[in-house]
Amino acid sequence: MKVAVLPGDGIGPEIVAEALKVLEVFRGEGLSLDMKTCDIGGIAVDRHRDPLPAQTLAACRESDAILFGAIGGPQYDTLPRELRPERGLLRLRKALDLFANLRPAQVFPELAAASSLKPDIVSGLDIMIVRELTGDIYFGEPRGISHNSAGERVGVNTMVYSESEIRRVAHWGFQAAQARRKTLCSVDKMNVLETTQLWRDVVVEVSREYPDVMLTHMLVDNAAMQLVRNPRQFDVIVTGNLFGDILSDEASMLTGSIGMLPSASLNVSGLGLYEPIHGSAPDIAGRGIANPLAQILSISMMFRYSFKRPDLADRVDQAVRRVLQQGLRTADIAQPGMPTVSTSAMGDAVVAALSVH
Ligand code: IPM
Ligand code: MG
Repeated sequence: MKVAVLPGDGIGPEIVAEALKVLEVFRGEGLSLDMKTCDIGGIAVDRHRDPLPAQTLAACRESDAILFGAIGGPQYDTLPRELRPERGLLRLRKALDLFANLRPAQVFPELAAASSLKPDIVSGLDIMIVRELTGDIYFGEPRGISHNSAGERVGVNTMVYSESEIRRVAHWGFQAAQARRKTLCSVDKMNVLETTQLWRDVVVEVSREYPDVMLTHMLVDNAAMQLVRNPRQFDVIVTGNLFGDILSDEASMLTGSIGMLPSASLNVSGLGLYEPIHGSAPDIAGRGIANPLAQILSISMMFRYSFKRPDLADRVDQAVRRVLQQGLRTADIAQPGMPTVSTSAMGDAVVAALSVH
């Protein structure tokens, strides 16, 4: 398998290094891996004046999977928009057509007390958000800031979805539900936005192919409320790019540990980009205290969705559970008073747990 490794900025390189230790364990067992490290985001702007250099995009195109760290930092926030690190990620998603973004939000029993919600509301929580990732207001035209006839500045973005874009991600939602508890909640804002009326209509059409899945619909404002009121009512949520961006951050916080959650962004040919849900955390970069577990769990998703090796994915998941059971905690997931371990000590512990059968 060919893997493009894109550590990026901030804590990205530190946590990717730990994930690579985990990959080395499997390589040692005979998994054939061809890895290539490339620049993306701020580091790519520094070195190539481009947040997605042509050679990085080419390496990603030639790969079976992309292991992505994190991008961004305050030093880049004042650059022109095309040079900002985020543009690198958005262009990569679009160029590779990574339209299906899977964002699981699971509460690890060992960490239930770390949630900002009461443990009895979140314990056992297991939600999968399927977010459309290459359409919507993120990419719609026209866009920009211009002047109107009165000489006043006007900002414009366009929320747009075609039928085919909705249909293909809806299939992902239904299939994810089929593999789980067979309930799918489609989130839209059809009471106000025509784009999302079409979203609802198309999701209903697709549902006829999945009679075994129970489909419900929810308006996005209600969904945001239900996620903190009674999050366990959800199994799979399917929604558009913008609503999915917001709801997935909200859902991740229910788990108490944004440092624990991986994600996958997939295209039709099975190429996937695997990254933690959290960002580059420039405030703690370089201090060796970042939690590498979301990045390590991204390897698990890579095994599951691109390598089609659920057996290896399960082993990674179990190793992570084991280190949590052993009481190992980085600072972000430690209860007050608990001792904490460094980024590399956490990675080493997962490696050690992997060799216990
Ligand atoms: C995410 C992030 C990105 C997004 C940013 C970094 C462009 O928030 O992956 O959720 O808005 O999609
Ligand atoms: Mg986001």
